[in-house]
Amino acid sequence: MNKLTLIAINTFGLETVVKRELLALGFEDLKVFNGRVEFQAEADQIPIPNLWLRSADRVLLKMGEFEAKTFEDLFEQTKALPWEEWITREGEFTVTGKSVKSTLGSVRACQSIVKKAVVEKLKEKYQTEVFPETGPKYTIQVSLLQDTASLTIDTTGQGLNRRGYRKQAGEASLKETMAAALVLLSFYKKDRLLIDPMCGSGTILIEAALIARNIAPNLYTSFASEEWPQIHSEAWTQAREAARQAIDRQSELQLFGYDIDPDMVRASKANAKAAGVDKDIHFAQQDVKNLWIDQQYGIVISNPPYGMKIGDFQQINQIYIALNKMFRKKTGWSVYILTGDKKFPDYFKRGKPDRVRKLFNANIEVNYYQYFGERPAA
Ligand SMILES: C[S@@+](CC[C@H](N)C(=O)[O-])C[C@H]1O[C@@H](n2cnc3c(N)ncnc32)[C@H](O)[C@@H]1O
Repeated sequence: MNKLTLIAINTFGLETVVKRELLALGFEDLKVFNGRVEFQAEADQIPIPNLWLRSADRVLLKMGEFEAKTFEDLFEQTKALPWEEWITREGEFTVTGKSVKSTLGSVRACQSIVKKAVVEKLKEKYQTEVFPETGPKYTIQVSLLQDTASLTIDTTGQGLNRRGYRKQAGEASLKETMAAALVLLSFYKKDRLLIDPMCGSGTILIEAALIARNIAPNLYTSFASEEWPQIHSEAWTQAREAARQAIDRQSELQLFGYDIDPDMVRASKANAKAAGVDKDIHFAQQDVKNLWIDQQYGIVISNPPYGMKIGDFQQINQIYIALNKMFRKKTGWSVYILTGDKKFPDYFKRGKPDRVRKLFNANIEVNYYQYFGERPAA
């Protein structure tokens, strides 16, 4: 069977993390762009990135890419694509769109041109004028960037960040995909001690537990492409069964989460339970000021409050003082802090961060400050 081109969509800044994940899943011929990674796969492999990708938002099937400066270009070239290979006679499809720096700036007009072109193609193929739209669902996206149109069909559906475990979120909860990326960017391994002293709804630690136990993050999610006849239903069954077999049920984890707000501690516990990792994480109410750490080695991953969302300067200052007191001299601890506060490295006196990665959290520019600690002897 011919290989298809799939596109893993991600938050800006996470491309290398998604690339690493895809390589680890065995995909090759990767092409990295801003906000997405393209890769080759067979139709029956579509379940794998959907079940397993931790840091990507969704997986799209690429139908084609071409220059489109006029509606006629868009119509003709869209119609020329093999839609009938994917959309069944009963298929129900919608078209979404976006346009950036392109001559065809009206997204609504582009969407309706694409819809018309696909309908025309299907009419010719199925020799019918009427489509019942009672079958599988397809979301087509037309995306124009600098006059290049990219046409895709979404294989995922509601989004890979909706893992389904977050019953309660905090005011400033991280997306699950972002939290997973923060853990993947640290050198966390399942035998290491990891704490999040301002854990909010527990997302970072829950993602760490899923990683440590090798639990496919979307094992219990359903996907838009599950109804598509081109992917054999056994491919879904087998991928899910293999994922179940891959779970590490033996390891003992050392994950600790604290928050000053008792509601957040309750939310974290409920979310961890829903994710099936409540026995792996110890959550407690604790002000970071009172946190006492006596282990020589460990990892901290956290995103403290920062001015633009919650918390005021006084509160943030107290947190920085506490982090300094705890970790300035603890060279066996790696410290990873995600914050929109660009002054953080001035206040955290451990020295210059070893690495700073620019990311976007809910469309706000943030930095991931990384201070590497010594590792325990093997
Ligand atoms: C940006 S939120 C963390 C969100 C979290 N990563 C998540 O995904 O839900 C910051 C958290 O810090 C907590 N916090 C603020 N001041 C604190 C303090 N002094 N000690 C411990 N936690 C504190 C807040 O209650 C809030 O839940």
